[in-house]
Amino acid sequence: MQLTTQRLRLRDFAPGDWPAVLAYQQDPRYLRFYPWETRTEADARSFVDMFLNEQAERPRRRFQLAITLPGTAQLIGSCGIRRKPGNDWEADIGYELSPDFWGQGYATESARAMVNFGFHELRLHRISSGCIADNTASVRVLERLGFRQEGRLRRNEYFKRRWWDTLLFGLLVDEWRSMTQYQATP
Ligand SMILES: CC(C)(COP(=O)(O)OP(=O)(O)OC[C@H]1O[C@@H](n2cnc3c(N)ncnc32)[C@H](O)[C@@H]1OP(=O)(O)O)[C@@H](O)C(=O)NCCC(=O)NCCS
Repeated sequence: MQLTTQRLRLRDFAPGDWPAVLAYQQDPRYLRFYPWETRTEADARSFVDMFLNEQAERPRRRFQLAITLPGTAQLIGSCGIRRKPGNDWEADIGYELSPDFWGQGYATESARAMVNFGFHELRLHRISSGCIADNTASVRVLERLGFRQEGRLRRNEYFKRRWWDTLLFGLLVDEWRSMTQYQATP
């Protein structure tokens, strides 16, 4: 599967993608809001393997795509939408980008394509996402797409020697439709 945006090509992962994933996941800027202290080759390989396995699901419920630059084919991150088990109307989204490419709107552009895919193709009713409250960049991506904050779980994750609050965000198909003029086929 692949999705094309104005500046990016989002495509299914391939087995040879793990070195590019490892390169950015080892960056301390990337690791800041994750429990991981570092990432190894084995971690990156199993990360990519997980997405290869998801590609084989029938019907497919999870779509984690590599974010690439069309000119060079360089892999600069990943973005995914996952339907909940036994629930065809709701999914959550996630995204991550190499720190070398932050601040250029690429995460917002990728996540927008995923949300569009979720409402149009998967015919979802609701998309949710969660993030660490201090992760301002991630919060901004969701807000820019029209997600509303629905909850704050206080000090519910512990890593890197401290507690973190997490935020839950949601976007309904009606809200998306009114923002994008999207017309559902009857
Ligand atoms: C979250 C992440 C994907 C955002 O990527 P990005 O491509 O830089 O995001 P965008 O360029 O689309 O920008 C989104 C907003 O975040 C802001 N932003 C980007 N980097 C930022 C930073 N380091 N600190 C604060 N805000 C930042 C942008 O200014 C923009 O806000 P604006 O609308 O007010 O201008 C990226 O920071 C990342 O990969 N982080 C590590 C992985 C991660 O935390 N993933 C999310 C898990 S929930």
